Amino acid sequence: MTPPADRLRVGVLVSGRGSNLQALLDASRRADYPAEVVVVISDRERAAALDRARAAGVETLFVNPKDFADRQAFDLALVRELTARRVDLVCCAGFMRILSSAFTRAFSGRAMNIHPSLLPAFPGLHAQRQALDHGAKVAGATVHFLEDGAVDTGAIILQSSVPVHPDDTEDTLSARILIEEHRLYPEAVRLFAEGRLAVEGRRVFVRGEG
Ligand code: GRF
Repeated sequence: MTPPADRLRVGVLVSGRGSNLQALLDASRRADYPAEVVVVISDRERAAALDRARAAGVETLFVNPKDFADRQAFDLALVRELTARRVDLVCCAGFMRILSSAFTRAFSGRAMNIHPSLLPAFPGLHAQRQALDHGAKVAGATVHFLEDGAVDTGAIILQSSVPVHPDDTEDTLSARILIEEHRLYPEAVRLFAEGRLAVEGRRVFVRGEG
């Protein structure tokens, strides 16, 4: 199937397993989906996510942070690669690096991240463990726009909650949240591609709802 020429061009940044990437790749295969993944970039050469992209016939790049003098130079290299491929939207999907303003400025309003908590609760690493340690009764997933110089902040696009069960481990809770992540991320990209996200300050409104 040849995708329609006017589909939104998505670049995905990964570091690891790539299950969220897979959800985006699977969505891209649907004829009526308004976006397609055109490049997957990893900062780790052996990320399983790269195999998923190759299997889907999507271009992959390994950009080695060690080849650059500092974070900004690395981030600018990412910007160059993405821009060269006319990427409209960047999706971080398990990308384990903090992007500097060199990146967020270039893709302001055009870069998203997914995080396994109901932000602003539990930003940073091990969000699911943080939720368990705090005795949270609900947990969930958040898709948000990237914000300059901050981690897991930025205007919230979509969220979904899941219950925390008394016998949950980090693994069982993560698995329950992941199901929501795989549903939310393609949905957020679809809304962006359809021009249905309106950002006012920190609030993102979805047009044509309710
Ligand atoms: C996901 O839980 C995502 O929310 C977080 O890192 C994990 C990446 O998983 N940022 P995967 O690589 O998409 O499977």
